[in-house]
Amino acid sequence: MSALVEIRDLSVDILKGRGGGTKILPILRHIDLSVEKGQVLGLVGESGCGKTMTVLAILGLLPEGGQISSGQIFFQGRDLIKLPRREMEGLRGKRITMIFQEPMTSLNPLLSIGSQMREILLQHEGLTGKANRDKCISLLETVNISEPEKIYDYYPFRLSGGMQQRVMIAMALACEPELIIADEPTTALDVTTQAQILDLFNEIRGRIRSSFIFVTHDLGVIAEIADRTSVIYSGYVVEECSVAALFQMPLHPYTDGLMRSRMGRRNSNRDQLYSIPGTVPSPGNIPEGCPFAPRCQVVMERCRREVPPLAEVQEGHRVRCWRQVF
Ligand SMILES: Nc1ncnc2c1ncn2[C@@H]1O[C@H](COP(=O)(O)OP(=O)(O)OP(=O)(O)O)[C@@H](O)[C@H]1O
Ligand SMILES: [Mg+2]
Repeated sequence: MSALVEIRDLSVDILKGRGGGTKILPILRHIDLSVEKGQVLGLVGESGCGKTMTVLAILGLLPEGGQISSGQIFFQGRDLIKLPRREMEGLRGKRITMIFQEPMTSLNPLLSIGSQMREILLQHEGLTGKANRDKCISLLETVNISEPEKIYDYYPFRLSGGMQQRVMIAMALACEPELIIADEPTTALDVTTQAQILDLFNEIRGRIRSSFIFVTHDLGVIAEIADRTSVIYSGYVVEECSVAALFQMPLHPYTDGLMRSRMGRRNSNRDQLYSIPGTVPSPGNIPEGCPFAPRCQVVMERCRREVPPLAEVQEGHRVRCWRQVF
């Protein structure tokens, strides 16, 4: 198996309530995706589609009540779902690291930047003393923090959101992981800082061999950072292709809608503002058939009855739409 990460047929439910009143909410459905070595996979979709749940499943960090009902998550050829907890804890934070949307909720406000970084290197690499400190300073330099010695002693509240996110990225890089998962890492930042952090990601990519899963609801971010992309809708992968193909020829009506909404936003002419009608169904109310059918402008009778398969319609381009299956 050549891919670093390969998810096959992953389904996740959340159980709500206890005893006779337990409800099973389907969250992810038959997710297939893969990440090649050194590549960036962009996960894109509207709010509530299941992007965060997908990455939490990889990390073995599903919320309470969350359970995997089918599938496999291969990382370097080993199924993470079957891994003993201790081994998974050994991978997490070392071989697989994570950058979240809100740096302030991931950093401990009571500890200096230096002590938080030191802890990672101590725990996972056994680095102590001067070697540890030197590595921390060099990591801060890697993420283009000027005066790293000073920042090392700062507490998180003294840093701007952008600087905090740089620290989070430095921490994610600390153990030279094979996989870095970034969940909307720029969404909480202002536009200028967002652009700087994206530039930083691209710069880092050129220097290290890690693969990335980059979660975003913004196709513009996908265009800038990803090699391939999986479009998620209502817990399903609905389209999966290279970023070039995504922008030249989106095949799923949902992707097309996302693309048109984006064009509308870039175009200052208000008449051309477009948004996909309707909303993402909540997990308790997913319609039968294709989950996008109620919002789809080119829906057919069959779509309301049967979920289409994720079919490879061109080499390296897969789509889950009855219009594309012949
Ligand atoms: N703890 C939970 N209990 C019940 N449902 C949940 C829980 N966490 C998430 N969900 C539901 O799972 C679905 C997928 O959520 P997820 O957080 O993966 O979406 P997302 O694509 O990351 O959205 P966003 O862009 O807003 O971050 C949503 O419908 C959400 O309401
Ligand atoms: Mg999310």
